[in-house]
Amino acid sequence: MALWGGRFTQGPDQRFKDYNDSLKFDYRLALEDIEGSIAWADAIYSAGVLTEQENKDLKKALEELYTEVSENLDEIAKCDDEDIHSYVERRLIEKVGNLGKKLHTGRSRNDQVAVDLKLWCMKACDHVLSSIDKLQKQLLKVAENNQGSIFPGYTHLQRAQPVTFTHWILAYIQMFERDYLRLLNAKELLSTCPLGSAALAGTAYNIDRDALAQALGFKCATRNSLDGVSDRDHVMELLSCASISMVHLSRLAEDLIIYNSGEAKFVELSDKVTSGSSLMPQKKNPDALELIRGKCGRVVGALTGMLITTKALPLAYDKDLQEDKERLFDAIDTWIDSLDMAALVFEGIKLNKQNAIDAAKGGYSNATELADYLVSKNVPFREAHSIVGRIVLYAISKDKALEDLSVAEFKEYSDVISDDVYPCLQLENILAKRDIIGGVAPAQSALEIKRMKEYLENR
Ligand code: ARG
Repeated sequence: MALWGGRFTQGPDQRFKDYNDSLKFDYRLALEDIEGSIAWADAIYSAGVLTEQENKDLKKALEELYTEVSENLDEIAKCDDEDIHSYVERRLIEKVGNLGKKLHTGRSRNDQVAVDLKLWCMKACDHVLSSIDKLQKQLLKVAENNQGSIFPGYTHLQRAQPVTFTHWILAYIQMFERDYLRLLNAKELLSTCPLGSAALAGTAYNIDRDALAQALGFKCATRNSLDGVSDRDHVMELLSCASISMVHLSRLAEDLIIYNSGEAKFVELSDKVTSGSSLMPQKKNPDALELIRGKCGRVVGALTGMLITTKALPLAYDKDLQEDKERLFDAIDTWIDSLDMAALVFEGIKLNKQNAIDAAKGGYSNATELADYLVSKNVPFREAHSIVGRIVLYAISKDKALEDLSVAEFKEYSDVISDDVYPCLQLENILAKRDIIGGVAPAQSALEIKRMKEYLENR
């Protein structure tokens, strides 16, 4: 039974119904729809629409329905109702008869769907926050267990300066921390309750909307009914948060795919998150990481789609807005799965220390250090830069590392270079020197790990 029909002389064409009905995806709002309905029963009871007994009976039936529905959420999708609001109302009327028909007094599906979706978003935020937190903790564990391990650092994907594996991981912990805070902000911002906005003009019943908002766990009521039913900023914002975080995950995935390649072999992925080839028996492919990288496009696509759907949409509610849900659900599911998958990858990752050290030693990544050494001997930096450039060119022609050149060879380029140059060129010393906040020195990483651990445990 549709929630409307009085003014129609014909039923809907089946093809229109299939196109229009949203139950096949908005069934995921069932629990939120019932929560909103329970709060609404209280609200219209306070406004004098229901007697105390009627309110009790309605809420009892809704609570029963809540239990039934939570056991079997997916089953709802198969029903023939137009949407989740029609489904809940039908089930309620089946339970309490005509009394069930009173619940929709003063309410519209427009404010109902708006409040349902916001309630869903708040819960979704909590799930995502917990997955980010778990990933950060897993990353921190690997960072801690590999402290001091030298790793090549890149710019332009060319070896630049040595870093540590730990320092590289700590970089991603920072990104995920911003993702966490960004989402927390978004959750805070969406915490206003549109229920009571009715179709577009606000309900005609005397309802304390701030009290209703608080009963549902929101901070306060929305302040304009037109905005209340048509605002989907929170959907766009969650999709933005998801997109930025997926971009971070994609960079993490790409770094690891490179580090795990046969050419680099700095890390080895666990068999548990890789797969083989049907043809080439030797293959072990980084599928988990490739999927994380690939799914980033899907989430960014959801954001783009939502922005375009909402662009130039006239106030207040339009059916276009029904297009918000599938992409939001899909993006949040994908985000959570990808965060969890990244954590799983780090559970079984193995660092090939020696390969990483060998790579860090190659590529002249201690050349900057040699220039700094010249600066310490009073050579102006620009001049030092040029001298070292020529030394590097010479070393390349001899197929030698800088530390393998003799003092005599160095002296061909600068008189001031003597024996004390060698310690400067050692990777351990290069790292240790960068002992400032955010620097690569293992001592700094140790402090950062300690700080981050305490923070994650207490937030
Ligand atoms: N299924 C609709 C949606 O998701 C619910 C609101 C319908 N409102 C209406 N006036 N048809 O947006």
